Order: sequence, then structure tokens, then C-alpha cells
Amino acid sequence: MSTNDSLSLSSRVEYFRGEIEKALCESLNIGDNCPLRLVEAMRYSLLSSGKRLRPLFVLLAAGLCKGDYRQAIPAACAVEMIHAYSLVHDDLPAMDNDDLRRGRLTCHKQFDEATAILVGDALIPLAFEMFGELSSMELAGRCSIELAKAAGAAALVGGQMDDVIHEKSLDDKPETASIDLLKKIHLRKTGALVRVSLRLGGIIAGGSEKQIDALDEYGKNFGLAFQITDDLLDAIGDENKVGKRVRKDNKMDKWTYPSLLGISNSQLEAERHVEDAINALNIFDENLDKEILIKSAQNLIGREK
Ligand code: IPE
Ligand code: IPE
Ligand code: MG
Ligand code: MG
Ligand code: MG
Repeated sequence: MSTNDSLSLSSRVEYFRGEIEKALCESLNIGDNCPLRLVEAMRYSLLSSGKRLRPLFVLLAAGLCKGDYRQAIPAACAVEMIHAYSLVHDDLPAMDNDDLRRGRLTCHKQFDEATAILVGDALIPLAFEMFGELSSMELAGRCSIELAKAAGAAALVGGQMDDVIHEKSLDDKPETASIDLLKKIHLRKTGALVRVSLRLGGIIAGGSEKQIDALDEYGKNFGLAFQITDDLLDAIGDENKVGKRVRKDNKMDKWTYPSLLGISNSQLEAERHVEDAINALNIFDENLDKEILIKSAQNLIGREK
């Protein structure tokens, strides 16, 4: 790839990020009936410096299916809202008990636990409200069902439940402590939202079933590689770069790829899923958005944050 090509890749990503930030900011004009403390805590959690991977995927998938990315912005906001709520709740004392997120205090440390719980409670319906801005109510209905499933008990929340109950010290039976169980956890707690981000972009752009399936396959493999590399960041990353506490998963008795497979086998496993993610895009014509999706997957290997 020439320097000019990589410049145009990064400027398109930066442009999309700007559009996402602007829309997220506007989405928090909620009106006077929302207590100031609640909207401040929502702003604190939603507008902090996340990588915005999931909303970027919504826009890139729309572009890949030859749609207008602007039509997909409400869905991009929706997935980031679900993601932000999941982080606020994931950090609570009853879950991972973390005090650092995106390089600053977690929501319940900056505010308090009740406020952090309510921030999550408020971000979930706000996410679904975003679909009201789509071009038709039929599309809004379809997207709502897709997101509800991905965020629900058989996906994100179910994965989080299993993450919380399967502690290493409790799982002494080899069949429960297997990589298959861990993969199932990762596919739900992290993979489901990544997958639906890509699916929503494709659906809003009017992509074919074959295209949506390919995006789904990319998302599934990217999501797995993403959580494996998140586990690796906890094991070997630098807290200042990651923006959250590291070396915590072991202390919390979590099953992770490094704890089951070791560092280098986990890296190999992540590489395998990156390759599968990239191969899933073979059906699409070459374009800038495809290049960005390929590069995003490649960048997972050795990521520092
Ligand atoms: C963190 O997600 C939670 C996981 C699913 C591993 P990100 O690493 O995408 O978090 P932000 O949005 O950039 O803070
Ligand atoms: C969380 O996984 C996935 C979510 C659904 C929030 P982790 O617990 O590993 O995420 P981090 O490391 O706290 O970001
Ligand atoms: Mg967790
Ligand atoms: Mg956590
Ligand atoms: Mg983690």
C-alpha cells in the first residue's frame, strides 16, 4: 500500500470518528426532565475517549455494501451506547470492580454506584430510540430486533453472566474449564456486539443476504480476536497505554486465553481469527472501506490499547 493510500485510509477513519463524536454529543440533548447528575454521568461515560470501533464498523459496513454512511449514523450511535453501558456495568464492584476506564476513573468511582447503574439503564433505551431516525419504521424495527438479540440474555448479557460465574477456582471439572467454553463466553460477551455492528451497517445499506453473512463472519472472527487480544493486554500490556488496570484477570480468577493456552498460543489463535475475518471479506469488491476493515483486523495483532 502506498503512503497516499494509507493517508486516505486514516483520513477516512478520522472523518468517520468526527461524525460519530458529533452525533453522540447531539444524542445527549435529552431535555430538562433528565436530572443534571444523570446526563453528566452519561456524558462522562459515553463521550470519553474510546476507540469507537463498533460505530466505525457500522459506517464501514454500510460503505462496503455501497450505501450512504450518513444513513447509518443513528445505528452507529446505538451500538456505542450499548457498548458504553456494558463497560459501566462491567466495571461495577459486583462485576469486575475496576477503578480505571479509558484512562480515567470508572463511572461509579467518579460518581457513585447508583448513578453508574442508572447510566446503564438510561443508555439502553436511548440506543433503541436512535433507530427512530432511520429512513423507515420497517428498518427501525428490523434493526431494533437485531440489536436487542445481540445485547440480550443469549448474547452480550449471557456472556457476561458466564464470565462472572465461571471462575477458575470454582471450575475444577476439565470439561467446564475448556477453551470451548471460553470461546463461547468471548463470542457472546464481546463478539455479539461487534457482529451486530457490521450487520446493522449492511442492513441499512440494503446489502444482500450473502453480504450480511460475510460481514457477520468478519465480525465473529474479529470479535474473538479482539477479546483474545484484550486478554493479552491484561496479561502483558502497559496500563498507561491501555487506559485500564492490567494484571487483573488472574487476580479476579477469570478464565482467559492466556490463562488456558499461554501467551504465544493465544497470539497464534488471535492471528488465526484475524486471517478468517479478512478472508470473509473476499466476496466484496476492492474499495477503501474494505481496506480499512482489513487493516483494522491486522492491527489487532500486537495492539497496545
Ligand atoms: C473493551 O472494549 C471491552 C471489551 C469488549 C474488551 P474496547 O477496547 O473497544 O473499549 P473502548 O471503547 O476503546 O474503551
Ligand atoms: C468485557 O470484557 C466485555 C464487556 C461486555 C464489557 P472485559 O471485562 O475483559 O473488558 P475490560 O477488560 O474490562 O474492558
Ligand atoms: Mg468483564
Ligand atoms: Mg472488565
Ligand atoms: Mg479485559
